[in-house]
Amino acid sequence: MPQLIAYLNGSYLPLSQAKVSVLDRGFLFGEGVYEVVYHHAGKPIAMQDHELRLKRSLDELGIAQPTESLSDISQKLITDQGMDNAKIYWHITRGVDTTRQHIPEKNLKPTVLVIAWPEPDHAIAQGPETIKALLTPDIRWQRCDIKSTMLAPNCIAKIRAQQLGFQEAIFHRDQIVTEGTSTCLFIIKEGILQTHPQDHWILPSITRKQIIQIAREHQIPVIEKPFTIDQMLGADEVLIGSTTTIIATVTQIDDHLIGDGKSGTFAKQFFKWFFEQA
Ligand code: PDD
Repeated sequence: MPQLIAYLNGSYLPLSQAKVSVLDRGFLFGEGVYEVVYHHAGKPIAMQDHELRLKRSLDELGIAQPTESLSDISQKLITDQGMDNAKIYWHITRGVDTTRQHIPEKNLKPTVLVIAWPEPDHAIAQGPETIKALLTPDIRWQRCDIKSTMLAPNCIAKIRAQQLGFQEAIFHRDQIVTEGTSTCLFIIKEGILQTHPQDHWILPSITRKQIIQIAREHQIPVIEKPFTIDQMLGADEVLIGSTTTIIATVTQIDDHLIGDGKSGTFAKQFFKWFFEQA
């Protein structure tokens, strides 16, 4: 496969040549935000939602907005590299400083990186995945609503999950379930869908919003209210979702089987509805 092309600060160049200064504040202080956008059959899904969330994350951290159009750059990367389904990554940091200092120089130009990775088509044909998840304390900061690149707690949890034979880790704070390390989370009990309310403890997930919208269109009741670990373990189904996963069924959490411990009916239905309206 030819080498992927990345966009970095105004230039298109082979990924291995895309280099950033060690004085970049994303590198030094983790001052950066990101987005992952899914292109399906040549067109982006929920592009405007991703643009708005990126703008908000940048504003919340006081990072300047990029002047270039990330959607145009993404489209060019996809077209030029002949991709049909792709995962697009946007990464913006506060920029390159003059030295390591907590207070940044004024008027730094943000560092802007865009990469498109091809996604296999068969992932959609196969339907929703079934996964096993590990419960883990949510040790993240108190602004989980910002899509920050500071993902060390998420990575620590997911690495531990993988070492123990699980595919995802589910965070909880004092028995209240928040979300997955890289996924939104829903439980279903007696036909009612429930998810953590959209506050600073969870990411404003675009898939979460889409699942809620689709459920409402199909008259499935949705509650946005905190729930406990016990409520989750007693659910008929547990779903996780993200831009890249779309929807997956969690069949096991730690050593507890969820429902009948098999692939969920709701997950399959939602997956179908999702691609019908995409
Ligand atoms: N992760 N919660 C967290 C903590 C996430 O990192 C993500 C996405 C989600 C789902 O958000 P969305 O539906 O907007 O993709 C929820 C991305 C995909 C990642 O880190 O690669």
